[in-house]
Amino acid sequence: MMLQIVALAAILSAAQSFQLNMTQFYEMPPLYDLDDYDRCLQEFNGQSSTYCFVRAEVQPDESASAWRAITEISKYDRHHFDHRNLYFGLCLRECEDSLSELNEDELEALQAGLLTDNPKVNVYLDLFSAETDNRQRHQRLTNVCLNWRLQRRGFGVLAKSVVEYCNEAGQQVEDDAWNLSFYGILGALLVLACLGSLVDLLLKRRRHDKMLKERDHYKTPPKSTAQQILLTFSVARNWYRLNQEPTGKIGRELRFLDCFKFFAMFMVIFAHTNWVIYESAISNPQDPERLLHTAAGTLLVSGSLITVTFFVISGLLLTINWLAVSRSLEAKKEHWSFGQYAFLFLKFNVFRYIRLTVPYAFVLLMSGVYFENAGGPLWRHIFEREQLSCRRNWWTNLLYINNFVRTDERCLLQGWYLAADTHSFVLSLILLMLGHRFAKWSKHLYAGILATFVAIPMVLTYVMDYYPIFIPSPQTQKDSFIGDRQFTEFYTSSLMNFGSYFCGVLAALAYDQLTQKQYKIRELKSFQLLWFALIPVGVLWLFSAHPIFQHYYVAPSAIWGAIYAGLQRNLWGFGLGIFIVGMAGKVGWIFRKFACLPIFRILGRLTYGAFIVHLLVARIVLATVREPIYFGTGMMFAFIFFTMTMSYLCSFLLAIFLELPVSSFLKLMR
Ligand SMILES: *[C@@H]1O[C@H](CO)[C@@H](O)[C@H](O)[C@H]1NC(C)=O
Repeated sequence: MMLQIVALAAILSAAQSFQLNMTQFYEMPPLYDLDDYDRCLQEFNGQSSTYCFVRAEVQPDESASAWRAITEISKYDRHHFDHRNLYFGLCLRECEDSLSELNEDELEALQAGLLTDNPKVNVYLDLFSAETDNRQRHQRLTNVCLNWRLQRRGFGVLAKSVVEYCNEAGQQVEDDAWNLSFYGILGALLVLACLGSLVDLLLKRRRHDKMLKERDHYKTPPKSTAQQILLTFSVARNWYRLNQEPTGKIGRELRFLDCFKFFAMFMVIFAHTNWVIYESAISNPQDPERLLHTAAGTLLVSGSLITVTFFVISGLLLTINWLAVSRSLEAKKEHWSFGQYAFLFLKFNVFRYIRLTVPYAFVLLMSGVYFENAGGPLWRHIFEREQLSCRRNWWTNLLYINNFVRTDERCLLQGWYLAADTHSFVLSLILLMLGHRFAKWSKHLYAGILATFVAIPMVLTYVMDYYPIFIPSPQTQKDSFIGDRQFTEFYTSSLMNFGSYFCGVLAALAYDQLTQKQYKIRELKSFQLLWFALIPVGVLWLFSAHPIFQHYYVAPSAIWGAIYAGLQRNLWGFGLGIFIVGMAGKVGWIFRKFACLPIFRILGRLTYGAFIVHLLVARIVLATVREPIYFGTGMMFAFIFFTMTMSYLCSFLLAIFLELPVSSFLKLMR
């Protein structure tokens, strides 16, 4: 242990030494140059005012110190932005004014041409294909204008550019079929909630039972089926459902999972809010760049391990459900036919699909709704991109294939997790059924599967030449993960994540065995020691990516890289599995007490809703940005806190009006 700590300290201090040459940094043109949006569209009462958002790429010119600075600083592509790519928000009237004194030759010299060969920009251009006219009309003016600015400010470089979109004063939003269906469904949900609540209230009035407390009324099911269905929408009833204590021994023993879910979701929202800040405009890009060179940067990068938590919990819950169902069926019948397996398989999948997909589909629908542009120059870049992708690709999300189909135009990017989780669910269920059918071989089967899915990431990483870890570099995040092979094939692929999911399955099987045999692991001193050691080891494991992430220029050796790629997530998942089994066995002292606090019951249940809406919330908040924002701890946490609170509030509404009605409806169907 001491040795590890010393080694870690040595590695960390070595990387602290990176210095950004700020003199050189300010020789580069700024990443963002946005004219005053409101003034542009409102001055002169909006007469023929146009504001264009333009993407530019600086062209090589070895004689310019700006270009030398760009190549020097952008070569740290894992830590720094690609400083060739510039965003301009141009008020066309101001452009015309600034160019009025130049003669025809000077204007011609400022033309650097159309930016056509940047595949990431092209994805945007394709999405905003309705802007083709504007693009042609304003190309020449915007290009000359931004090059004139680069010259006038003494950067001495020229940039190719292309208009992403233009806004004119007085543009109106028209409600189309998509919008109307959203409003229709929203209205229907509200009407159902009112109706359900009213019926519930009437039933309560009619009951005249002095012995029955108010709360108990909402917890007892009504008699007729029609009433039952209507009452699934009752707001009061759903509030009690949200609050409900876990029932049964397993439910009580695993209560702490709600706390895990909540904190893991906090981390996810933290990371994703940061990402959307990168997607908008930052006035001090040097600070996040410098931050990434430090130990905190390593933590940010390996923080992506947090998603493994959800895979493990998900695998665990599936297995616990499966064991409960298979036991209750076994009591009736010893040997199952193939048909029985098939029926159970179908039932598990259909129920899960409906429960997950209804709220998901609602949020997808909401993501595509056009509404009055509340934002500034970046609104469409950040928010309408999402709307357009959702309108094009919602079906990939609903089929849960969005982690490998149309990955350049992702709608609800976090949905990759749901896709990978769905694939893992199906595969695990098949494996559990095989383990059940061939009980004698089940141990071999499970061990073999675990070994296979630890090996697969290794082999794939080696063969496909992936980088050993996924690095959400500033530029990747700024480009919204478009065209990032490492993200699509390495990080979000189901194959790469199944190992961690399966660790959850194994944890549940171990937990089940322990309960069956009434074995008290709490009384085992060595297990206690192992459990508490997992905490510091986990932290060290986060830092294990440090040498890989922070090394400069030397590529990690392919074999070691591949081994690390196979182990990074799987060991984390395995450790987490042990951790969970321990806590379920009442190991954990005050950690367990804290994790079982009742507040996490509600927060934990709101996790799914918060997960599907949080990016939408973050986008709405950040897309209103009109000027580059200062990226500092205070600012960051203000945004994160706001996104977090709003996401949980939205999730609460989603739960009361949609999620809980659906789940209690499904209970009726059982
Ligand atoms: C920083 O960059 C400037 C301009 O390129 C250069 O003159 C200076 O020597 C550099 N400083 C260091 C410490 O490298």
